[in-house]
Amino acid sequence: MPAESNMKMADTQARTAGGAIPAGGKVRTRAAASDGTPAGASLSQLTQLYTSFAIRGLATLGVADALASGPAPVEDLAEAVQANTDALYRTLRFAASVGVFTELPGRVFALNTAAEGLRSGTPGSMRPSLVIDDNTLTRLRMLAEIPHTLSTGESGYHKVHGIGPFEAAAKRAGNVRVAVRPGSAEMLASSVLQADDFSADRVVVDVGGGTGAMLGAVLTRYPRLTGVLFDLPSVIAEAPKTLEPLGVTERCQLAGGDMFQAVPDGGDVYLLSFVLHDWGDDRAAAILANLRAAMTDQARLLVVETLITEGPQAAHSIQQDFMMLVNGGGRERTADEHAALLADAGFRLTRMTPIRAGLSILHAQPG
Ligand SMILES: C[S@@+](CC[C@H](N)C(=O)[O-])C[C@H]1O[C@@H](n2cnc3c(N)ncnc32)[C@H](O)[C@@H]1O
Repeated sequence: MPAESNMKMADTQARTAGGAIPAGGKVRTRAAASDGTPAGASLSQLTQLYTSFAIRGLATLGVADALASGPAPVEDLAEAVQANTDALYRTLRFAASVGVFTELPGRVFALNTAAEGLRSGTPGSMRPSLVIDDNTLTRLRMLAEIPHTLSTGESGYHKVHGIGPFEAAAKRAGNVRVAVRPGSAEMLASSVLQADDFSADRVVVDVGGGTGAMLGAVLTRYPRLTGVLFDLPSVIAEAPKTLEPLGVTERCQLAGGDMFQAVPDGGDVYLLSFVLHDWGDDRAAAILANLRAAMTDQARLLVVETLITEGPQAAHSIQQDFMMLVNGGGRERTADEHAALLADAGFRLTRMTPIRAGLSILHAQPG
């Protein structure tokens, strides 16, 4: 997923003509209305750029980490994170007022459930996606192009950069932020390993496999299997850093290339994890056509994607889909939409293995 996908979506700004937040921020809409307005939400809360950046700023300074061992007075916190005490106090007070951190008597602050999510290295930590860095301004520019995206269907990324995120990545050797998803790749690998049996296979090809976290896990689990890791050359150049510590480099061929030209042949099983959602239907069809051309009739394909579903789980995939629209012109799809894409490329969807929160593995075979 492009790094830009990590951008949270509340980055719009509720301003009056004078540039201020509407007084009190209390433009309440009907709570839990039959028209779908969420309970307790106000339009200003839903559009609050200041809230987002207060929390992002605190995440950037590592304030939640400084509170990991317990509540602390703001003076101690300021020293720990090298902040201006007054600015830190006012920002923390504001964050606490919207439910992130708890303010205790004596200008003491503590973590609460929401603030726990800002700690580093904890399961499900949101800190990596909230830290303000050089990409933040770029992402804001991209999001500010939403009127253009709405008018034309073209992503904000394309409008700002003139090319797509992966075309940009291809030109940016050494910068593989777009492809590194270590934690999630390991989780996905274990799901893939549970969902399918590779013991009769000889070669597994991971197309758009990033720096090899998933393929490395598969090769570790099956010591007689060999792998081909296929991705953009600039991404493949970084793969040894992932594969060497796993001790699988001798069984893993590194193949840099362009999946819109061709993908490696000779695999018994092909992995395509979070690749199709980066592209609109025409480009996704081109990738699948190249896979089909490379695969024998006996080979099989495992597609990992977030599916747009019905019901309460849909919110996550619908949010992801909006991010894809803005970030690079990709899209999330329903199972039926995937089945249709696969069928057009000469594949049959044989079964689906749900993983969690809308994530699924789609098992497909030529035919
Ligand atoms: C969203 S990432 C998925 C990475 C990995 N499969 C995973 O599940 O974490 C999409 C991958 O497609 C790769 N990619 C994009 N365009 C490509 C191209 N034209 N040829 C080969 N790989 C490409 C990207 O570099 C990136 O690693």
